[in-house]
Formats: sequence, C-alpha cells, structure tokens
Amino acid sequence: MERTYLMIKPDGVQRGLIGEIISRFEKKGFQLVGMKFLRLTKEMAEKHYAEHVGKPFFPGLVEYIISGPVVAMCWEGKDVVSVSREMMGATNPAKAAPGTIRGAYAVDIGRNIIHGSDSPASAERELSIYFNAGELVEWDRSLQAWIA
Ligand code: TYD
Ligand code: MG
Repeated sequence: MERTYLMIKPDGVQRGLIGEIISRFEKKGFQLVGMKFLRLTKEMAEKHYAEHVGKPFFPGLVEYIISGPVVAMCWEGKDVVSVSREMMGATNPAKAAPGTIRGAYAVDIGRNIIHGSDSPASAERELSIYFNAGELVEWDRSLQAWIA
C-alpha cells in the first residue's frame, strides 16, 4: 500500500490545527502508520528541503520550519501521495481552493500549514529523514472490533 510523508508545520501547531488536520485524513479513509512531535534541527530542515537550496525563499523557509515544533506523520492508503496533495491544496494558500486545508486555513505562501510529499519517491526519501523502519506501525483496521 502506498505511503506518504505529511507534516503539520509550526504555524499549524501554534494555531491549534493539529486535530482538525489529522481528522481530515482519518475521515478520508487513510490510515496513520507513524507519528512524532518534534522540533527540526537546521540540518534536518536543509535535508528535508534539499531541492530548494539556493532559491530566494530558502533561508526564510528553513527559519520558519525550525521556528517551533511540527507533527511528522506517515499515512497509508490508495493513491495517498496524490490524494493528500489534493486535500492540502495549492502551495500558495491564496490560490488554494477554499475546501482544501491550505485554502481553508492559510493565506501566505510562507505560512502554509502543511507539507506533503510530491511523489512516491519523495515520500520514501522524506520518511527516511524522520522515521526508522521500526517506527512505522503495520496494523489492520479491520481486525479492531471495539465498535461492533
Ligand atoms: P514547494 O515544494 O514548491 O511546495 P509544496 O510545499 O506545495 O510542495 O515549496 C516548498 C515550500 O516552500 C512551500 O510549501 C512554501 C515555500 N515556498 C515559498 O515560501 N515561496 C515560494 O515561492 C515557493 C515556491 C515555496
Ligand atoms: Mg514540495
């Protein structure tokens, strides 16, 4: 099953949107398989955003992403990489559709609340920055009978 790396950025955490964002992916039908609450080091941030090194927004991007704690997550499901990107909305929240996460909760491209991998290959690379294999949990929702 396909996996992606999703991260609630420091502004999403500071604004109290953790529950709201996680809830959207749960309700969509995706499955959480890994989660951590942490503050990125500068080194982790530079590794995470390696593709943007040298761009004019890079220094500000790194400063922002290390400015407070983030929620690092691995989610699993059918086409989760592309579908979660659709749920996030456009990179520039001012242009993101109103029903998307960025469209609903953000206005500034430099404060866009959530990160999501842009391809399965990026997902694999990004997940390896944040999680060891043993920290991603295999579990089967159909075997949980708490609600009959
Ligand atoms: P990018 O990977 O292009 O967007 P996405 O997060 O949708 O995959 O850029 C990474 C982050 O860099 C983006 O979420 C916000 C920030 N950014 C800027 O601040 N200014 C810009 O012009 C761009 C393109 C991105
Ligand atoms: Mg990107």
